[in-house]
Amino acid sequence: VLKRSFSTSSVRQVIKNVTVIGGGLMGSGIAQVAAQGGNNVTLVEVNSELLKKAEASITNNLGRVAKKLYKDDPNGAKKFVDETQSRLKGSTNPSDAVKDSDLVVEAIVENMSVKHKLFKALDEAAPPKTLFASNTSSLSIGEIAAVVNRKDKFGGLHFFNPVPVMKLLEIVRIPEQSEETYQAFVAWGKAIRKTCVTCKDTPGFIVNRLLVPYIAEAIRMMERGDASPRDIDIAMKLGAGYPMGPIELADYVGHDTTASIIQGWHEKFPDNPLFNPCESTKRLVQEKKLGVKTGEGYYKYNNLRYWLEN
Ligand code: 3HC
Repeated sequence: VLKRSFSTSSVRQVIKNVTVIGGGLMGSGIAQVAAQGGNNVTLVEVNSELLKKAEASITNNLGRVAKKLYKDDPNGAKKFVDETQSRLKGSTNPSDAVKDSDLVVEAIVENMSVKHKLFKALDEAAPPKTLFASNTSSLSIGEIAAVVNRKDKFGGLHFFNPVPVMKLLEIVRIPEQSEETYQAFVAWGKAIRKTCVTCKDTPGFIVNRLLVPYIAEAIRMMERGDASPRDIDIAMKLGAGYPMGPIELADYVGHDTTASIIQGWHEKFPDNPLFNPCESTKRLVQEKKLGVKTGEGYYKYNNLRYWLEN
C-alpha cells in the first residue's frame, strides 16, 4: 500500500512555477492570484511599458486585497504585499520565461493565429513537464491545442473579471487531456483559492454561453427603446439579484471582448439568433469607447466612480 501511494504521489504534477502570458486585465489578475497562492510567477508582456502598466495594476489590486484581509493590521498587510510581490517577476521573452515553468497560462488577444504562433514557440521552448492552459473566453481549446505536441497536457483555465475577487475557475477538458493534467489543474485551482467547475470544450463554456447572450439581449432591448439602460440595469440588480446590471457589466468586461466573442460565434453559428452582433456595440468599438477601461462605453466614467450621462 505504501509503495503504491508513493508511486502515485511521485507522478503527481505539483505546480510551483507559473508563467502568465499577457498582462492585460485578465493576465495581471491571474498572475496576482497565483503569486498570492504561493507560486513563483513570471508575467510576460510584449514590451517593458506594458509590463510596467500590468505591475502597477497588480500593486493597486494587491493593496485592495491586503486591506480586506488585514483590516486592522497594517504590518500584516505590508508583509502580505511584500511577500506576494517578491514571488512576481516580469519578462518580455516568452520562450525564456517558460524554461522552468510547471504551468503556462495564456491570456493574450483572442485571435487564433496569434495564439497558434505563441503556443508553437512555447511547445518548443518549454520542458516536457510544463502544462499549457488558455484563458480564452470564447475560442475552442481543442483548436488552440492543435499546434502543440503535448495535447495531453493542455486545457482551458477560464477566469472571471475582476480575477482577485471572482471565486470561479472553469476548467475545460479536451479529449486528449490526461487525467493527471486535469487533476493538476483542479489542485492548482484549489491552491489559488478558486472554486472549480468542469466542462467540455463547448462555445462559451458555462458562464459566457449564458452571460453573453443575456448581455446582448439587454443591449437589443435598449436599442429597441423598450427601456433605458439605467432601468434595465436597476431591474436586473433589484429584480434578479445580480451585482451589476447587464449594460454596466458590458462596459465593465469591455466591448472589444464581448463584440469579438459574439462575432466569432455568429460566424460559426449564423443561424443562432442568440449570437447576433449588436449594432450599438459595433459602433462603440469603432469609436474606441470600450467601456470602463477607456473611460466611456454605454456610460461615461471618471477616475473614481462612473455615472450615467443621459
Ligand atoms: N482587485 C482586488 N479587489 C477588488 C477589485 C480588483 N480588481 N475590484 C473590486 N475589488 C474589491 C474591492 O476592493 C471591494 O472590497 P471591500 O469589500 O473590502 O471594500 C470589493 O471588491 C467590492 O468592490 P466595490 O465596493 O468597488 O464594488 P462592488 O461591491 O460593486 O463590487 C464587483 C464590484 C466585485 C466587480 C461586483 O460588482 C461584481 O461582482 N460584478 C459582476 C462581475 C462579473 O460578473 N464578472 C464576470 C464578467 S464575465 C468574465 O469575466 C468572463 C470573460 O471571459 C468575459
